[in-house]
Amino acid sequence: RAEVVINDSSSPAVVDRSNESIKHNIKPASSKWSHNQTLSLKIRKQILKFLDAEKDISVLKGTLKPGDIIHYVFDRDSTMNVSQNLYELLPRTSPLKGKQFPTCAIVGNSGVLLHSGCGPEIDAHSFVIRCNLAPVQEYSQDVGMKTDLVTMNPSVIQRAFEDLVNETWREKLLQRLHSLNGSILWIPAFMAKGGKERVEWVNELILKHHINVRTAYPSLRLLHAVRGYWLTNKVHIKRPTTGLLMYTLATRFCNRIYLYGFWPFPLDQNQNPVKYHYYDSLKYGYTSQASPHTMPLEFKALKTLHQQGALKLTVGECD
Ligand code: CTP
Repeated sequence: RAEVVINDSSSPAVVDRSNESIKHNIKPASSKWSHNQTLSLKIRKQILKFLDAEKDISVLKGTLKPGDIIHYVFDRDSTMNVSQNLYELLPRTSPLKGKQFPTCAIVGNSGVLLHSGCGPEIDAHSFVIRCNLAPVQEYSQDVGMKTDLVTMNPSVIQRAFEDLVNETWREKLLQRLHSLNGSILWIPAFMAKGGKERVEWVNELILKHHINVRTAYPSLRLLHAVRGYWLTNKVHIKRPTTGLLMYTLATRFCNRIYLYGFWPFPLDQNQNPVKYHYYDSLKYGYTSQASPHTMPLEFKALKTLHQQGALKLTVGECD
């Protein structure tokens, strides 16, 4: 068990924002970093004891039928029925079945990506994962365009598409979905009760407009399994963020993992302000006790893995 020590016993509750970015100083992208293949394989093996990304990435059609009742992962007392639309969109086989990629990029949504010029480097990876339908076109120089898998928390429909209150917003979402062009759209539909209607709206749009995406709905055990892995490694996260989930899944099918846009701090390494998201005006809220995430703690763990060569974090400009 746990030869990879990603130890952190400090309390994540209070974060001294002014010093945080200095403490997390990471050398520029161009400085020497080498991949530790042995460690990467060891981590893959350890994670496989908790979950199997190939299976847990999505519930499959064969395992559910319309009308089945599901208890939400975080709201156990609330249930949902598997709708006909959801059933139709469940994949028959895992979208990652038998897949192995030489390199993968996981693109987080931090404003640290702005002016990074990382777009071409990100697009050069064999498999590119993005989070929460973040826009790419207007930011392609810094974030790239290639998208093989993109996540969509139901809350994104509220936050970025105004809960589809009118035709304009529906059209915006439709366009974004069309632009996915065959990639995997990963929707955590069974996590929290609040997202029920939003998931249904998206499912309906996909079917009605014959949108070319491969939908995936993570397994009911994924979140707890991911948390279990990190807790076993002494990373005391509350609820894993989408970014950490994606890294944990990617260890299964990516040989080398490169992270961009992971920087949960309001100042960069040169003490310049950093937007929380590269594309909107959302503010930092992760330090609040109410937030389910412990992003700086996750970052610390990822930074340790970077230093050990298990993954590469880029938090500045690309070459
Ligand atoms: N991220 C980061 N620093 C930021 C913003 C985001 O490191 N300033 C990373 C986190 O790992 C995050 C991912 O990028 O999960 C995607 O960003 P976002 O869409 O904001 O994250 P969520 O985890 O989905 O947030 P929530 O679950 O609250 O919607």
